Amino acid sequence: MSDAGHERRRVYDPALRLLHWWNAAAIVALLATGWGAELFEHGAGERAVWTVHVYAGYGLVLGLATRFAWALVGPRHARLADMWHPQAWRRLLTDFRLPDRHRWGHDPLASAAFLALYGTLAVMAVTGLALAASELGMGPLAGGLLDQVWLAELAEEPHEFLASFVAAFIVVHVGALWLHQRIGGVPVASSMWTGIQVRSARREGGNA
Ligand code: HEM
Repeated sequence: MSDAGHERRRVYDPALRLLHWWNAAAIVALLATGWGAELFEHGAGERAVWTVHVYAGYGLVLGLATRFAWALVGPRHARLADMWHPQAWRRLLTDFRLPDRHRWGHDPLASAAFLALYGTLAVMAVTGLALAASELGMGPLAGGLLDQVWLAELAEEPHEFLASFVAAFIVVHVGALWLHQRIGGVPVASSMWTGIQVRSARREGGNA
């Protein structure tokens, strides 16, 4: 599909888009309850807020596991290979050359941030399950781990520190989409709603 100066292609499948919004909603709920719980410290609602936090965590683990499976068996632009661009990253680091921004599918630079986010979320899921077990007696690891102070101490700092990285990712991700749109004059963000990516047709290049 094309019009004056723009090309459009259906790129992101419905399952990938549903998983994006499922995981994004779980992450926002986790950050809101994780930080919001401090408002309820030692109050009546504290346990309830942490319970919501743990259930949002289960939701995220489910969403991440499904996204990982979809990255192995899903269509081309949902696959891990669509986010794996070592040559583009190497060119940027050694020659300071920006990757081709006109390829279809995941942006090569943004992909590095997406993969870093997924790695971070995996560590947060493990440390979160350890904290749920040791501090709240909840979750699949709960049996025998309640009140294991060493485990809570081991998991707490990385869990809290990485939450800040996730929050920073959201600010940069949404800001980059907005900037891309402002500067490039091409609607970028809508592809995660509609599945249709819009590219400027001015330059040649990009994958078929
Ligand atoms: C809590 C907020 C958000 C989080 C955690 C988040 C996370 C992510 C992740 C992990 C990906 C990679 C998707 C994949 O696995 O294939 C992605 C891609 C994308 N997201 Fe978000 N996202 C958030 C908010 C938004 C918003 C508000 C928009 C705008 C409507 C948006 C639009 C997109 C688009 C267009 C892509 C594809 C970018 C590309 O092609 O390289 N996201 N996001």
